[in-house]
Amino acid sequence: MKRIISSLYSRFGMLLCSGMLVGLSALLLCVSGCAEGPDVMRILARLDDPPEKLSTWRLFRGEMKSHTLNQGVLPYDIATPLFSDYATKYRAVWMPPGKKATSDEKGVFSFPEGTVLIKTFAYPDTSGSKRLVETRLLVHSATGWEAFPYVWNKEQTDATLALVGDTTDVKWSHPSGKEYAFTYVVPNANECKNCHEIQKKLRPLGPKAPQLNHSFTYDDGEANQIKRWIEVGFLEDSAALQKSPVMPNWLDPKTGSVAERARAYLDANCSHCHQRTGPASNSALYLDYATTDPADWGVCKHPVAAGKGAGDLRYGIVPGQPDKSILLFRMLSDEPEIRMPELGRVVAHQEGIELIRAWIQEMKGTCPETP
Ligand code: HEC
Ligand code: HEC
Repeated sequence: MKRIISSLYSRFGMLLCSGMLVGLSALLLCVSGCAEGPDVMRILARLDDPPEKLSTWRLFRGEMKSHTLNQGVLPYDIATPLFSDYATKYRAVWMPPGKKATSDEKGVFSFPEGTVLIKTFAYPDTSGSKRLVETRLLVHSATGWEAFPYVWNKEQTDATLALVGDTTDVKWSHPSGKEYAFTYVVPNANECKNCHEIQKKLRPLGPKAPQLNHSFTYDDGEANQIKRWIEVGFLEDSAALQKSPVMPNWLDPKTGSVAERARAYLDANCSHCHQRTGPASNSALYLDYATTDPADWGVCKHPVAAGKGAGDLRYGIVPGQPDKSILLFRMLSDEPEIRMPELGRVVAHQEGIELIRAWIQEMKGTCPETP
């Protein structure tokens, strides 16, 4: 809590280290923290030679394995995330003092130069505590976004730049009791593009107003994330921002109907490729939340290519018949040539499959000559 408060105050240009009064330990903590905020600007100046170690960025403080964000680095989560083999993800953002993002009416942000977006992937280890696997950074340099994947060492004392990717064995038990043992794949720096690039430019995917507009448990209590971003000076309040839509939480029926949550799920898990300007645009399947014509989601749509990926099925979605729908068939598959998403997962996502199944099940209508 002191960390958040002190970071808020320093961003507001008010009394630095107001937590000092609380006691000597807080004072020491704050002094070292305040003196050593993130070291991003120095690194940015020579980004062609990025740091070997994640710790060099000073996005974290104290022992690296505690994964404690440094002052000024704000954690966030998104309403409907990307599924990544059941990894737990921790997300955070940092911007240079005095710089902020702006929003358009759809809630898409333009981030200032110097912004760092951080995403760490972790699994519970055999003793029940968390094992940090990788931390990915997206950094907004003078010429655009750049991607840096870091892989954590076994001792969890630091993570090392791994531009060529990595693999690691994961054993994990689902709350349902199902045991998972698989080889987790850390993508290489080139693969980031397959999801993050549009028209040859890398861009962030998660932090947009529709995905952030809900409450988050900060160290100092619950608060709406959009309000907090504005408060700490990360986001400019504007009429456009206030107009932007809210995305449902795919798992929370209070936030939307089955159809709305299914479409939020497809947006988060598929639309970075399946949208009009995305890398899978030639499949003519558009799964972004803004697309509202069922034919674009695949309803009664013949696949672009028949064959293995279509599994002898005729249509992307057959209303009322999830098991005749290619969309679900590909989500169920573990085979690299069939599975969707084609990248970023090894195992199927049971809960996501259930939601898409329920959505297709409740759709009305028939397709011509459904076999
Ligand atoms: C399979 C597609 C996919 C690949 C491959 C991928 N990402 Fe992402 N990434 C996403 C999606 C979707 C989000 C937003 C949703 C979320 O965070 O759950 C995201 C979020 C992030 C974030 C948080 C900020 C943001 O954009 O939302 C960072 C940082 C990030 N990715 C870095 C990387 C880096 C670095 C690589 C390459 C090593 C990479 N990603 C590879 C799909 C991908
Ligand atoms: C990393 C990029 C990527 C992501 C993410 C992705 N896809 Fe795909 N998808 C493709 C590509 C490329 C094709 C075309 C080649 C093929 O059919 O394998 C495709 C094809 C398809 C097809 C066949 C389309 C047709 O009509 O011919 C379906 C169905 C599909 N994807 C569903 C999904 C679903 C559902 C998700 C999310 C759960 C998803 N995809 C996520 C890249 C992606």
